[in-house]
Amino acid sequence: MNLFYLISAICFILGLKRLSHPKTARSGNFLAALGMLIAIAATLASSNVLDLKLIAIGVGIGSVIGLLFATRVQMTEMPQMVAIFNGLGGAASAFVASSEFFKVNDLGIIICISVFIGTLTFSGSFIAFGKLQGIISGRAITFSGQQILNALMFASIVALGSVQQLGILPDSTIFYVIVLLALLLGIGLTIPIGGADMPVVISLLNSYSGIAAAATGFLINNQALIISGSLVGASGLILTNIMCKGMNRSLANVIFGAVGAESSSGGSSDGKEMNIKSYSTTEAAMILDAAEKIIIVPGYGLAVAQAQHVAREVADTLEAQGKKVLYAIHPVAGRMPGHMNVLLAEANVSYDVLKDLDEINPEFEDCDVALILGANDVVNPAARHDQSSPIYGMPILNVDKSRTVIINKRSMNPGFAGVQNELFGYDNSIMVFGDAKDMLNDLLKEVKEL
Ligand code: TAP
Repeated sequence: MNLFYLISAICFILGLKRLSHPKTARSGNFLAALGMLIAIAATLASSNVLDLKLIAIGVGIGSVIGLLFATRVQMTEMPQMVAIFNGLGGAASAFVASSEFFKVNDLGIIICISVFIGTLTFSGSFIAFGKLQGIISGRAITFSGQQILNALMFASIVALGSVQQLGILPDSTIFYVIVLLALLLGIGLTIPIGGADMPVVISLLNSYSGIAAAATGFLINNQALIISGSLVGASGLILTNIMCKGMNRSLANVIFGAVGAESSSGGSSDGKEMNIKSYSTTEAAMILDAAEKIIIVPGYGLAVAQAQHVAREVADTLEAQGKKVLYAIHPVAGRMPGHMNVLLAEANVSYDVLKDLDEINPEFEDCDVALILGANDVVNPAARHDQSSPIYGMPILNVDKSRTVIINKRSMNPGFAGVQNELFGYDNSIMVFGDAKDMLNDLLKEVKEL
């Protein structure tokens, strides 16, 4: 059996490696799923205590639910789906550990760890889901003494886990109190985090669900679970780190900063008059006609409008007219890692023209037009110089270095960070207001007539 577990571990590792590039991501996903199938089959084949009929029913129900979720979910709702899956993963680990406890009626430290992390992941993930889905207020919910209360709950769980061998309290009492405290701690740790920081939290909870699974793997002596749990734990932490770096925030600031408790202010352009120049798509098309090098900057708004296909059509038309068109991909553009890469890959944009931050920033210097489609924070120059701005220090795309910046969005509303963008008032900036898809459809007609 260990040979099959080894094969599945190799599939997981190669799958993760392939997931790191859009070109190979699909096959990476398939490889990792195949690894999981091998691990499940090997586990089922090696066990004779399982009721295969019940397992088949479980696999059937799970597959139908998974299929429905995966085919119906909108790209912009992906973080919510990941939150639910993390929560259920944590709950599954906690349930397996709980059943071990009821079977042997002896509460070991591994059962405590597994139940604690699994339950915390469950409640925390569902709060994160509720915030992103708008069921619970997306604002940071804070009250005085909140962090002390969280620290006390955590300390109580550690204390209970430590004394369980001494027999001071019945094991079942310790078990139920740990479950209750872990449920409350998951809620307590997630409610003070603003909806804006939820994707980072979800990635962190993803890592927790991996740790819970690995602990459960030790408990039931299942190597495949230990390996896959450790991989999820480690990759979730790496992803959390990448997102924090992309926003120039520390993890502590995300978790304890309560960003979003009240509407954020700050930023040099707040309260100042900006000279906004609103242009029509016809005028924008004329500017593009005179351009030789154009860089398209997709953001969250493009994803919401599902405008990736028409954006590619506009780019194709401009390229056919002999212009050079590149795409600038900021690491945290959108609401989840790799959001823009996935959207543009779906629209068949060639990977060669997708350039990440370091690669594209020097290109803006000799760029004629930066065409910004529903991006805001990731192009806000205040991040470079305005220490009062909440996004100060965040690496941004230097679109303002281009000769002309065309910005498409629907209104002057701020983006995710809640701050106005001084770029919109710059001399070389023009705004083309409207939904990204509608605007690009109009623009496409115009550029085709050039
Ligand atoms: P945002 O700063 O959120 O700006 C998106 C803009 O799109 C908004 O200003 C909005 O303005 C516009 N918009 C919305 N719907 C639109 C539509 N249908 N058509 C045209 N425009 C539309 O987005 P961004 O620049 O992509 O930055 C991402 C933000 O998310 C960053 O602050 C980042 O830190 C944060 N974040 C990202 C991640 C990851 S991993 N991607 C994780 C956590 C946080 P209007 O309402 O005026 O149209």
